Amino acid sequence: MASFYNLFKSFAFKMDAEAAHISSIKLLSSFPLVLSEVFGGQKLPKNDRYKLTVGGQDWSFPIGLAAGLDKNAEAIDFFSSLYFGAVEVGTITPESQIGNPRPRLFRYPKECSLRNQMGFNNDGAEKIYENIKDAKKNCKILGINLGKNKATSQEKAFLDYQILYKKFAKIADYLVLNLSSPNTPGLRDFQQSERLSELLSSLKDLRKEIPVPLYLKISPDLSELDLPGIIDVVKEHNLTGLIGTNTTIVESLGAGGVSGKLLRPKSQKIRNKVLEYIKETPNIELIGVGGVSEFSDLINFWQNGGKVMQLYTSFIFKGPNVLLDIQRDIERHLVLNQVNTLNQFISNIDEMKIIL
Ligand SMILES: Cc1cc2nc3c(=O)[nH]c(=O)nc-3n(C[C@H](O)[C@H](O)[C@H](O)COP(=O)(O)O)c2cc1C
Repeated sequence: MASFYNLFKSFAFKMDAEAAHISSIKLLSSFPLVLSEVFGGQKLPKNDRYKLTVGGQDWSFPIGLAAGLDKNAEAIDFFSSLYFGAVEVGTITPESQIGNPRPRLFRYPKECSLRNQMGFNNDGAEKIYENIKDAKKNCKILGINLGKNKATSQEKAFLDYQILYKKFAKIADYLVLNLSSPNTPGLRDFQQSERLSELLSSLKDLRKEIPVPLYLKISPDLSELDLPGIIDVVKEHNLTGLIGTNTTIVESLGAGGVSGKLLRPKSQKIRNKVLEYIKETPNIELIGVGGVSEFSDLINFWQNGGKVMQLYTSFIFKGPNVLLDIQRDIERHLVLNQVNTLNQFISNIDEMKIIL
């Protein structure tokens, strides 16, 4: 229902971006089922037509919601009632924190992009745990994204991740170590392979005690030279995979991280490099994210060996229709190629007819 989201957007985009975000989440968390119907009621057929298996888990649709849109896990019931195959909440830190001073979220409508300097504002582990426990996931995959508190020193950052792992491992389908936000000073330093290895070693015992798929979310601003080292550590520590990428720094626009179309080229380049490196390691996954807004983004990802992607910014600009458009294009291609499932389509992607 394009018109309903456009009407909603015409009001929301007149407001300050963060105020619009807060009001929308409040509304979506209060009336999740009614609003999912109003936005077009997205129920997938109860077969495996669009199912893809990632890290041993079945995504009913190849697009998930990226972290940061539902930081406090307040609207899982809404997002999981759309086509999303997975919903990722957070970033959650052990203690609640208010984040950076406002304004800290900016729209670039012509470029279909956002810039944010949020700084992990969230209600903290205790409160968010309760929200997640009470949520109906509609049989969707639930990812929980973890980060350190700003006030935690670099030396004690390991403890934050341990506390969070212990708290959330039992109620998550997968966990994510977010080491790539540009808005927490020093966080990205943990992507350096030695520090990453130390951090993962400190989680080793807990991971044995409470095993759950674990991903590492990476930055698009990493040098290509850093990637092999990071991937080696990911393999050595048996992570499920990587999520790539987070937002990028564009100095000419100002502080914070840029997402959406302006991020796409950088993000896609890093993703394709990662896919090249992990080609020979079938048990390492890459969940793609960064500037994803249409079917052609998936095609590019599939042609390079990826499976599922996430999005955030295109949902702000297009609403649930971004999912509907992708579903229609997938369906069109399954029919065009006379294959029954998306899995067959991507497994034979090089032989498939593609009309974009
Ligand atoms: C306002 C905003 C807040 C975000 N907060 C988080 C966050 O808390 N944790 C995280 O891992 N990523 C966060 N992200 C990054 C997104 O999850 C995603 O990686 C990035 O925006 C690229 O995807 P997109 O181009 O589809 O938006 C945030 C993005 C935006 C726009």
